[in-house]
Formats: sequence, structure tokens, C-alpha cells
Amino acid sequence: MKKIAILGYGVVGGGVAEVIDTNRAEIEAAIGEEIEIKYILDLRDFPGNKYESALTKDFNDILGDPEVVLVAEAMGGSHPAYDFSLAALKAGKNVVTSNKEVVANFGAELLNTAKENGVRYLFEASVGGGIPIIRPLIESLAGNRICSVAGILNGTTNYILTEMSENGKTFEIALKEAQEKGYAEKDPTADVDGIDAKRKICILSAISFGKMYGEDVVKNEGIRNIELTDVKILAGIGAKIKLVGKAVKTEQGIAIDVAPRVVRYNNPLRSVDGVFNGILVNGNALGDVMFYGSGAGKLPTASAVVSDIMDILTHPGAVEKLSFEEGSGEDLVDTDALPLSYYVRTEAKPQSYEYECVGDKAIIIKNISKNDVKANFAGSVFYEVM
Ligand code: HSE
Repeated sequence: MKKIAILGYGVVGGGVAEVIDTNRAEIEAAIGEEIEIKYILDLRDFPGNKYESALTKDFNDILGDPEVVLVAEAMGGSHPAYDFSLAALKAGKNVVTSNKEVVANFGAELLNTAKENGVRYLFEASVGGGIPIIRPLIESLAGNRICSVAGILNGTTNYILTEMSENGKTFEIALKEAQEKGYAEKDPTADVDGIDAKRKICILSAISFGKMYGEDVVKNEGIRNIELTDVKILAGIGAKIKLVGKAVKTEQGIAIDVAPRVVRYNNPLRSVDGVFNGILVNGNALGDVMFYGSGAGKLPTASAVVSDIMDILTHPGAVEKLSFEEGSGEDLVDTDALPLSYYVRTEAKPQSYEYECVGDKAIIIKNISKNDVKANFAGSVFYEVM
């Protein structure tokens, strides 16, 4: 019998218990043993709940119980989730998590602590909800040098943008719906302002390029200021505005940021709508590959957490292959100085840049940096074009 604990009985924690119960026969057949959720940590009471007798408000019940071999952290937020994860690893317990905030800010330390204590720290659910992306990057694409990772990484903002453009809903109504469906963070500003997507692209960048840059050194811009005017102009050329996190290995170093970007008709990310996420990876041997699926929500996220639980329980004693170090940020490339293509809402026709017209109200300029767009088209709305 393998005994585990779940930290947090919210959307994800509840989903983990549900997936284990629903798929118990398959899970136990794969593990070769029965699995028991011995504890669920939550400060709330759940009278009459199936797991009422497993509920505890005291993390020390879990930490001090040698029978618990694995802790699934689904609390959200940095503290006490980080502190409990660190303590569990030091106590020789494996930890799996869906918590991108903890992985992005403390992942290098927690991974090292796991290795020092002969256990594992896995976080497949921290990026892309139910989409397998962490393990494929580490294992299936191991024969590649990763050149770039670009993704629609936040289901809430993608849902909002899709409802605005396809169904004419206001930002506020679409956000409320996303919250009701369990997609949004407790504080949805993390979604709307691109912070959640930033944590996720930082994690993908760490796995792809070996350095975890903290969220304080990576730039993010959210979707609050997107106007329907630009959505409509761009629809005229079959393009959409999407919140995209991008990490690229350039000759000068790693460039990472999150921003609303114009995704043109020939980019596969354009077809990623609603709560779905899509992650486009470019490897030097494979070329492009896109990972697509449910990026948020109870059961999709729980599906990824349970896959990590099963990985650990089916490979007892396995040594973690993944490692990355903390990046200071001083070696990050300034994304505002990179020559790229930009959509600019302007009726001006620049003499010194190559451009194409987007109707008569906007242009797409090639080979121009964000700094130069700001300097030459002060006050104009602009977005990078992918
Ligand atoms: N709030 C996140 C999203 C949840 O909307 O994508 C999944 O990480």
C-alpha cells in the first residue's frame, strides 16, 4: 500500500482525489500496489465529505508520519506551499506540485533538496494544465538543442480574449465566467496581467536552457488594454491577438517575456482558443512541434499531477535527471532592443522601414525594435507580430 497526502482541497487538490478514485483500477495496476490518500491538508471543514476522516489542519501530522511517501502540493501561492514542500523533501518524502509560483521562484532549490535527500520533485501540472510538456521537453526532445519555446500559457486570458473576439463579450463578463469555471487564480490579476504566464514561461525556459530566471527580472504585459478596434483590424488579415510567453536562445543570450502578440494565420498558435493552451517548441533537429490541450481546470490539471504521482510510485529509487540553476537576470537579453516585426495602429507611412498595410488604419513593420516603435510612433497601439 502506497500512502500519500494532498495539500489543499481546492480545485486541483479535489481533482487529484477525484482522478485517483475514478481511475483507481488503472493506477493501482500500473503502480502494482494499492494507493491510499491518507491525509488531506486544508483549514476548512468538509462535513460529510468522503475524505472527512483524512482531513487535517496540521501539516505536522503529514510530516511526522513515516508511512506517507509522497506529498501532492496543490495549495497555490508561495507560502506556506514552498515551506511545506521543502520540509517534506528534507523529511525524505517525494513532492509533486501544480504550483507554478513555487516552481518559478524556488524550483532550483527544491530540485536540489530533492536530490540531496534521495527523493523527487515533479511539476508537470505547473505549465499547460493537463498538457504533457515538462516530461516531453526533458525526455522526448532530449536529442535536440531547443531554440525557442512560445506558448499561450494562461487559460483564463485566452478564454477572455476568445469570448471578446468571437462572442463580443466584455472583458469583465468573460473574466467572471472564467472564474466561475475554476480557470482563474484566486487573485485573477496574476492571470490578467501576465504574471501567471510569466511564471510558466520561466519554468519552460529553465528546462529548455538550464537557467531559471525569477519572475522579478522577466518583463510581462497583460491583456487589460487590448481594444476591440485592433482585434477587428487584425481579423481582416486572419490574425488574432494572443497573450504569448516566449523564450528564445539568441546569440547574445536568452530572451524571455510575456506580452500580447499578433499571431498570424500561418502560425499554429492562432488556432488555440478558449481555455486551451498551446506551446510551440522549436528544436534544432525536429523543427517545430506544438503541444495543445486543456490548460486549466480541475480534472485536466489533476491529470498531470496524478501522472507525476504515478511516475514516482512506479519508479521507486529513480534519480531525477533534471537540473537547472538560478539565473541572475543580468545575462538576459533586452527584448525591447531585439529587431522583430511589429503591428502599429497608425495611418503614417514610414520612409525608413519596410512595412505592409493592414487595411488603411495600421501597418506591420519588419525589423524594428520595440524601443524604436515607441520612439517613432509615440502614443500608437503596437504589438509584436509572430
Ligand atoms: N489560472 C491559470 C490559467 C490556471 O488560467 O491558466 C492554470 O495554471
